Amino acid sequence: MAVQDLRDWIALMESAGELRTVRGADSDVELGVIVDQFQRRMELPALLFDEIKGYPKGFRVLANTLTSSRRIALTLRLPAETSKMELVQAWRQYAKQYPKIPPRWVSDGPVNENIRRGKDVDLTAFPAPTWHEHDGNRYIGTGCLVIQKDPDSNWVNVGVYRVAVHDQKIAGIYISPGKHGRLIMEKYWARGQDCPVVVSVGHDPMLFFVAGLEIPYSVGELDVAGGLKGEAVQIIEGETGLPIPATAEIVIEGRIPRDETRDEGPFGEWLGYYASGRSPAPIIKIDAIRYRNNPIIMGNLPGIPPNDDTYYRGFLRSAAVWEELQQAGIPGIKAVWAHEAGGSRMLLTIAIQQMYPGHSKQVGFAAGSCHAGAYANRITIVVDDDIDVTNDHQVWWALCSRMDPALDIEVVKRCWSTSLDPMSYPREKPVFNNRMVIDACRPWERLSTFPKVMEAGPELKRKVVEKWRSVLPEITD
Ligand SMILES: Cc1cc2nc3c(=O)[nH]c(=O)nc-3n(C[C@H](O)[C@H](O)[C@H](O)COP(=O)(O)O)c2cc1C
Repeated sequence: MAVQDLRDWIALMESAGELRTVRGADSDVELGVIVDQFQRRMELPALLFDEIKGYPKGFRVLANTLTSSRRIALTLRLPAETSKMELVQAWRQYAKQYPKIPPRWVSDGPVNENIRRGKDVDLTAFPAPTWHEHDGNRYIGTGCLVIQKDPDSNWVNVGVYRVAVHDQKIAGIYISPGKHGRLIMEKYWARGQDCPVVVSVGHDPMLFFVAGLEIPYSVGELDVAGGLKGEAVQIIEGETGLPIPATAEIVIEGRIPRDETRDEGPFGEWLGYYASGRSPAPIIKIDAIRYRNNPIIMGNLPGIPPNDDTYYRGFLRSAAVWEELQQAGIPGIKAVWAHEAGGSRMLLTIAIQQMYPGHSKQVGFAAGSCHAGAYANRITIVVDDDIDVTNDHQVWWALCSRMDPALDIEVVKRCWSTSLDPMSYPREKPVFNNRMVIDACRPWERLSTFPKVMEAGPELKRKVVEKWRSVLPEITD
């Protein structure tokens, strides 16, 4: 089934048994609490909220979108049963070159079914959730696309930056320093101009997927999404001249002025803490809102990991770290996993086939220092390749049975961090963190004498499983 928009995606997930509809929830915190319970573990269905209290029937919110490996695989147009490690491998292959197909202009699209301009603009007409109990705003943009154009070139950047509802005609936007959207915005401001912006708040989740990635400066995410889909993303022109996904659910068009701010936040963030207080942030003055009949907001709820963000980013980061280790010329890497508990950044586990003395420590230091792995990392664990790095029990078993704390733990101080890390320092302007590398491989000098793992050999196991499966279906291969 070809997925062109969020509705096709929902239909696909419904047919795959991956979606549940919830009627009558309140978008003021209640909806967020429900979603958070669902994202406590992987493989629960995506949630489509309808008949939201106080809003017209049909005005919907989709959440818990990418918290199952089946949905992640289907979103990437891969077979539903692709395993976690196969997803890592698939992304490694894809990210080697990022094939691109430029977007295609079309004259019209479903997003034009309703157009509100000027005095008719009303951002509060949509059921934007207050996601967490102590959030300072309702947020219409969490799984959103923020579309801007570099004033010096034709480069169109798409990023995921949170968008708050201030009132009917004003939205708030938070873009961290260094993000491409911030650099573009500041270029307009330096010229004394407002920054034109388009925000899509419902679309094929593949577009969201790409927009949240650190795609290099001057590379267009719409082109990358086209490459990934295998066909051009269809776009239409709106008030600002910026491209608008033709099948988007709701699109906000406006300008970000330089000298006007409003207090925004706090907002519960991806590490599970209210990361910033309430402080002045840029605003979007809205010129127009377009939306489809019965529009759907695509939400993405940050929360205590695991959350919607950590599941799919885990395998993307794993692929990126693996690729960088390979490019650094380090042999023997068999698997990489960026664990959800660390927001898919802080906890890396690497499986290796040990090839020389010191190999395991080299891998640990390199993984926690390469570009994809360094930012906000806290713990890097290196294990032998008989350990499944995606299986917590196996990793803990390696830590308990193959690691000597006196020899195998290295602490590294004053590393690259973020103020979102509650343990970063100094407290006034947090930038550094301390981290550790744990070598949980069998000691190199005992490789041939280390006690044998007590498990039935593959041939014996195969025979026994074959013989007993009909009466003991739980017996595993
Ligand atoms: C769900 C989600 C929410 C995000 N929220 C923000 C945000 O509010 N502000 C921000 O600067 N980055 C946020 N990010 C991170 C950026 O989207 C990400 O770094 C992306 O690469 C930015 O695009 P850019 O590289 O074109 O700047 C978020 C990412 C995701 C997936």
